[in-house]
Amino acid sequence: MTATSHRFDALTAEHMRAGGSWKWSTPGESHGRGLIGAFVAEMDFPVADAVADAVRRAADASQLGYLPDDWAADMADACSAFWGERFGWAPDPAWVRPVPDVLTAFTATVRHFTRPGSAVVLPTPAYMPFLTVPGMLDRELVQVPMPRSDGRLVLDLDAIDRAFADGAGLLVLTNPHNPTGRVFDDAELAALTEVVARHGARVFADEIHAPLTFGGARHRPYAASSSVAAGHTVTATSASKAWNTPGLKCGQVILSNAADAEHWAATGYLAEHGTATPGVLATTAAYRDARGWLDEVLAYLDGNRALLAGADLPGLDVTVPDGTYLAWLDGRGLALDEPPSAFLQREAGVVLTDGAACGEAGRGGMRLNLAMSRPVLTEALTRIRTALRA
Ligand SMILES: Cc1ncc(COP(=O)(O)O)c(C=O)c1O
Repeated sequence: MTATSHRFDALTAEHMRAGGSWKWSTPGESHGRGLIGAFVAEMDFPVADAVADAVRRAADASQLGYLPDDWAADMADACSAFWGERFGWAPDPAWVRPVPDVLTAFTATVRHFTRPGSAVVLPTPAYMPFLTVPGMLDRELVQVPMPRSDGRLVLDLDAIDRAFADGAGLLVLTNPHNPTGRVFDDAELAALTEVVARHGARVFADEIHAPLTFGGARHRPYAASSSVAAGHTVTATSASKAWNTPGLKCGQVILSNAADAEHWAATGYLAEHGTATPGVLATTAAYRDARGWLDEVLAYLDGNRALLAGADLPGLDVTVPDGTYLAWLDGRGLALDEPPSAFLQREAGVVLTDGAACGEAGRGGMRLNLAMSRPVLTEALTRIRTALRA
């Protein structure tokens, strides 16, 4: 922990509980203490001034009607410029389209960009809704557990290859990866491209956490990794993770070849329709005018990563994320007769995401959200250590 204090340090648990967010709304207590919300992927930090101003301006000017084309185009310009600056790939703004959220983009991709009835391949553990949404679209889900290699969780290309050979049509590539915090490297992306291309399959690239990388890790957009990848990918992103605005319902689909852009123009209307107008205005402000806020948050989160890396959590195998603010805690070594997340909610009063919700491969694991004030994170880690030692 740094000696000098930061404005985010003043955000107490009481303040967060009073503020109203899903993350802090779990009822109950533990040993007479309130619960610390560390599950859903929201940050406790107040949003950037530019974002708040954009929402206020929209309300003050009654800009709450249907979305005009030029505002959508302005948002696409801002998104493309941000991606160009941060990731070295500025997609054609005409191919950046508004959607309310990533799951809407995913649903449209499955419906309109894959062979009818084809299965969806999902490396696991995974972002929880990807486990259930394919079934809601009448698609089979093929879970492909991520094996460990050199201490990191990687894609099982042989299993992915087999799933495509069996007829699957789409792979979900979440990069940076939720919940393991992996940022896939160029060699991994190139190897994946080969497998996908061999089967004429597709990739849904969920890059919502793209701006949130640390240390030496740098996000490489999958569609930018090669022209072959660009030819079989629908990318989805949003400012909602990095700028903490999921309630504003504005994400982006990024098309990366002319045929897909044309197909989206013909099929994407319903997906685009739910995008919130104030969300578009706020997202434009985030990408364009709130980069300094993002950098401040990244530096603060990096300090939280260091705190986790130095924490003594007996019996837990801790993965400090290279990307995202989500840490993966493997609790299988505890050999509990209940999910470790249930044990820690009861005994430590810290509400984590249970790994089983991330797929079979996640059973016994937990996802810890690091995006809280450092004093609250310190308290959460202390409580977890105490519970594990008891
Ligand atoms: C990997 C991933 N994809 C998609 C989402 C959904 O975000 P949104 O609803 O803001 O599009 C999340 C949210 O946590 C996420 O972590």
